[in-house]
Amino acid sequence: MYRSRPKGKMDSDVLAFLSSIRHDESILYYDILGSEAHTLMLYEIGILKQQELKRILLALETAKKKHGIIDAEGAEDIHEALEAFVIKEAGVDAGGKMHTARSRNDQVVLDIRMKVRDDINELCILIAELIDALVRKAEKTKNAIMPLYTHLQQGQLGTFSHVMLAYAEALFRDFERIYNAYERINQSPLGACAIAGTSIGIDRERTAALLGFDGLIRNSLDATTSRDSFIEYVSALAILASTLARMAEDLIIWSTQEFSFIELDDRYSSTSSAMPQKKNPDPLELTRSKAAIISGRLASILCIVKGLPSGYSRDLQDIKPQLFEASSTAVTTTKVMAGVISTLTIKKRKMLDTSEKSYAISLDIAEQLVTKNGVPFRRAHKIIGALVSLAAKKNVLLAALAPEEIASALDQIEQRDISPQEMHELLKSMTPEKSIQIRRSIGSPSLAEQDKMIQLARSRLIRCREKTQERMKSVKNSYVGLAKIVSQHI
Ligand code: ARG
Repeated sequence: MYRSRPKGKMDSDVLAFLSSIRHDESILYYDILGSEAHTLMLYEIGILKQQELKRILLALETAKKKHGIIDAEGAEDIHEALEAFVIKEAGVDAGGKMHTARSRNDQVVLDIRMKVRDDINELCILIAELIDALVRKAEKTKNAIMPLYTHLQQGQLGTFSHVMLAYAEALFRDFERIYNAYERINQSPLGACAIAGTSIGIDRERTAALLGFDGLIRNSLDATTSRDSFIEYVSALAILASTLARMAEDLIIWSTQEFSFIELDDRYSSTSSAMPQKKNPDPLELTRSKAAIISGRLASILCIVKGLPSGYSRDLQDIKPQLFEASSTAVTTTKVMAGVISTLTIKKRKMLDTSEKSYAISLDIAEQLVTKNGVPFRRAHKIIGALVSLAAKKNVLLAALAPEEIASALDQIEQRDISPQEMHELLKSMTPEKSIQIRRSIGSPSLAEQDKMIQLARSRLIRCREKTQERMKSVKNSYVGLAKIVSQHI
């Protein structure tokens, strides 16, 4: 349809090579809304007559009802297909005016911005749901004591709820990153035209308002060239995916027979075609790989824009599938993780058994030496290290060391800060429960701190949901308003 200078038809292989039609389905709806707003504005500034406006709007409403089944045969993209459809329905005298003072270059970024804006809202609600599931799980597992790991070696004791709340914190940051990207996405590029605006007296602010944008991307060259806001969004998705992958990895480890700290619900497990006993955490494994895929898509987008000159280049078209796929992958992965968390069961007894058999109480004991006996921490570290070494050699718990054994171990390292008998009492007194009770620093897994973190997360969550819903309502209201004006003209 656009071939005014080139003669004849484009080579069919070339058309197939450069067509973006197969990735454009998800922006057709936004292309229609954008076209409606643009057409209304053209009428308001006197470019279209009432009858012409009516015919174009009727055609666009017909396209909307067809739910994407408009004939795209021979079109390079959805913008061309929709314009061809409007011209066929409304006639070229009216339909041929729709593309006045507009270009596919501002049109395509308009559509992407409208889609990503919806994707961000959807994702924000889903992240909030996942955080909700984590906080609920935390409320039920405040007393489930388990070892926490550094280098995947037992470090200190903590609780399952502490872990759930740690994930929630990371996800709040993911939420904020994605939520904040919206501010830069929700700016209208429409009216930038091909690269340098138009001599026609268009009203860019009017179309921006009709489509629910918060403002304009003023500079026409910037509006048609820049893709940084999408890169920012996909970066935030890649970071979110890495949070989800970390959660997945923890849960995979804890669901092994060796750990047996948790059990995944059957609905979130698969099995083996050969080994009948198997219950595999496949959804979590795929959650890990999705982080790689989203990062890969981010890398593709960055490489596509790298080295492009200012002004639209067709390379930019290849960003669309990367962006849309990254978005939908983040949506499904977040949904799956929320399901995994809310349905998993914890094996409290096994966690406690492991904690009871663990030397992860060592730091708590050393700190008792510091606070109760005034021992410098470095010496306390030496003392407990020597006792752990002895206990590990004998394959017994610290509490099982006899005062005589303690005496000879302390003699060997020439530490006389505490009597062997007193040391023996201290080792025996440090149960997993006590280890958690005596933790008092802000953000530690003591019961009081966990209650505080749960309470904070709850109120933060309410605000996250509210502010996303406000945005969704504002987008929806603008669409309702647009539909009302359209209906007055047809
Ligand atoms: N289909 C293109 C895209 O997705 C928009 C078309 C702009 N084409 C052009 N030759 N100026 O980016």
